[in-house]
Amino acid sequence: MNLPQHGSNPQYIYDKMGIPKPDKWIDLSANINPLGPPDNLMKRWVDFYNEISDYPDPHALLLKKQIAKITDVDIGSILIGNGGSELITLLGRVFAGKNVLIIEPAFSEYEKVCRANDCRIFYHQLNESEWKWEENEMAEKLDDMDVVFLCNPNNPTGIHYPYSVIVKLIKECAQRNIFLIVDEAFYDFLEDYVPITPLVNKYEHLIILRSMTKMFAIPGLRLGYMLANQQIIEKLTTYQPHWSVNTLALLAGQVCLQDGAFVQNTTGYIRFERERLFSFFRKEGFAFSPSQVNFYLLRDPLEKNQLSLFEFLLRKGIVPRHTYNFPGLEGKWLRFAIKSTEENNQLMEVLKDWKQRP
Ligand SMILES: Cc1ncc(COP(=O)(O)O)c(C=O)c1O
Repeated sequence: MNLPQHGSNPQYIYDKMGIPKPDKWIDLSANINPLGPPDNLMKRWVDFYNEISDYPDPHALLLKKQIAKITDVDIGSILIGNGGSELITLLGRVFAGKNVLIIEPAFSEYEKVCRANDCRIFYHQLNESEWKWEENEMAEKLDDMDVVFLCNPNNPTGIHYPYSVIVKLIKECAQRNIFLIVDEAFYDFLEDYVPITPLVNKYEHLIILRSMTKMFAIPGLRLGYMLANQQIIEKLTTYQPHWSVNTLALLAGQVCLQDGAFVQNTTGYIRFERERLFSFFRKEGFAFSPSQVNFYLLRDPLEKNQLSLFEFLLRKGIVPRHTYNFPGLEGKWLRFAIKSTEENNQLMEVLKDWKQRP
């Protein structure tokens, strides 16, 4: 099945599935903050207009200064990107031809960019019953690797591996001269996150990637950043177009990072909605991943694969994210974003209809 590679833009999934688009649909396929961008961004938007007739700051100095403060790393260890996706693409170029281990399931762009750069790709599949990795098994897999990709919190499961587990992996990789890329695109949806960012100062093989498009609901603007040893940042910069990140994105980023209350409000809201959804799933007999962020995997254990459920939902105007391009999942689960109370209620109504169908 040649389905779209990512969530969002639901018209493509309807076309590919050959299902007529209903008049209204709810897009649960993209895991973006349902509260929308911060109000402060809207308030400043008109001022930003005055800035667009000049080139953006290619060094993104003001935004970097803010990030340095938040993350406890030096400005020289920060690279701003046109979305986390651009930074992943740059990493692919820097690690071209290397042996890469991807801890799966994970964001599909890692594999895509590694393939484009002739890397040799290896997988470590997380065990579906607990979504954990065995340390001994992992240690064996690390033999002969140059680079490891880990998504934490994990996309698509939403599970977060705690500080102690990550630090062990960082140390193991450091001992073996392996670059560890930890993609923290969704870290700010966690309520109990312990930052690994200061470890960039100590471990020169640690690379941390963050997206600003999820929490601050600005995927249309494109903004992300990377934290790593200064030499890696310099190398990546040589591959990046000079004005890659536009002025609106840079200014928006500065406003967003000042808005701690917005993040706090979001995480509380997401937790409340997540608990409501999960208690419904338990009652109705759906299996789900114990996510700690703003999306989760779901399946009906009575179905062998979830294609019928996927089609049923699409016909009812609910658009989940398929999992055919997540190695190890291959359609056995569907991924859903947590959205507004009303949209989550509609999802639960449709899932009830599914259970009660003749
Ligand atoms: C885990 C993960 N990392 C990075 C990205 C890239 O996000 P963006 O390019 O919008 O910053 C995504 C987008 O879906 C993602 O899921």
